[in-house]
Amino acid sequence: MSDIRLEGVSKRYGAVAAADEVDLAVAQGEFVTILGPSGSGKTTLLSLIAGLNRPTAGRIFIGGRDVTDAPAQQRNIGLVFQSYALFPHMTVLENVLFPLGVRGIGGAAARTQALDALKLVRLDGLQDRRPSQLSGGQQQRVALARSIVFKPDILLLDEPLGALDRKLREELQVELKQLQRSLGVTTLLVTHDQEEALSLSDRIMVLDKGRTQQVAAPAEAYLRPANRFVAEFLGIANFVGLADGRTGLVRPERVRVGPTGINGGRPARVVETIYLGQMVRYHLALQGGEDSPVVAALPFVGKAFAAGDEVAVSWDTADIWPVP
Ligand SMILES: Nc1ncnc2c1ncn2[C@@H]1O[C@H](COP(=O)(O)OP(=O)(O)O)[C@@H](O)[C@H]1O
Ligand SMILES: [Mg+2]
Repeated sequence: MSDIRLEGVSKRYGAVAAADEVDLAVAQGEFVTILGPSGSGKTTLLSLIAGLNRPTAGRIFIGGRDVTDAPAQQRNIGLVFQSYALFPHMTVLENVLFPLGVRGIGGAAARTQALDALKLVRLDGLQDRRPSQLSGGQQQRVALARSIVFKPDILLLDEPLGALDRKLREELQVELKQLQRSLGVTTLLVTHDQEEALSLSDRIMVLDKGRTQQVAAPAEAYLRPANRFVAEFLGIANFVGLADGRTGLVRPERVRVGPTGINGGRPARVVETIYLGQMVRYHLALQGGEDSPVVAALPFVGKAFAAGDEVAVSWDTADIWPVP
């Protein structure tokens, strides 16, 4: 049975459909990410599930129960937003105790539960500090502890790592994934960061203008996108004309670049070489009238072609995905 189910959920603001007949089923313990550009309706969907907002049409089920008209406090949901929303005048421990107090849990039992939650997010020892005495990453860990301390049925995370710098964000992504797995809590994460979505989730839901574009496992959406929007939003896509008139897609990692005249391939000129650390990315101009440039991404092993070099470019037909 699915833990979260949306059936034809719409939310209109005048002429704008922030959510447009969205269907989604999230299984117990599953980690699903809602991915889309700014303004695509991600926050709207989370707020509808959380009960902070009512849909214009459609039904929302949690644990099989129709909660469409149930108030937020009857949904047992943990929420984390990009802005930490901690109480500044309270200590870390008091912040984490807060949702327990709201639920009538106090005393030693609450304290144990709160300290356990702080241990889970690796903040043990910092319980007496105030939020202003913590780094951004630590503040977001407090927010996470506060969202799981009451053992929610569902965790909703709205761009929780968006305010953190890249290195810290990547560290917290790993921790978040481990925490989610160890708790087994059904989780919906919202992000506009395709790498974050691809690396964390069991499945991703790609959203554009309030409409679902695709719901699929990360590799499936990346290699077999449902349409051009998904293809381009999830990464670099090389579009190639197919013999039958359709358009195909090849991902940069599937493009081979080598010296000319060794094992075939089409002649091309390197327009730009971009070092990305472990990878090197080439922007290539195919010779022979192809109008669309080709991007290739190869592991960087100490030596690379330079701009202006003549190279041979190839890919397997099996790596071409006809974009619907
Ligand atoms: N309270 C509101 N009133 C009017 N329009 C809104 C309101 N909330 C969101 N919208 C509009 O709905 C669309 C989706 O917004 P939102 O869900 O915040 O997108 P995202 O989180 O993906 O950036 C946007 O066009 C936004 O302007
Ligand atoms: Mg948003």
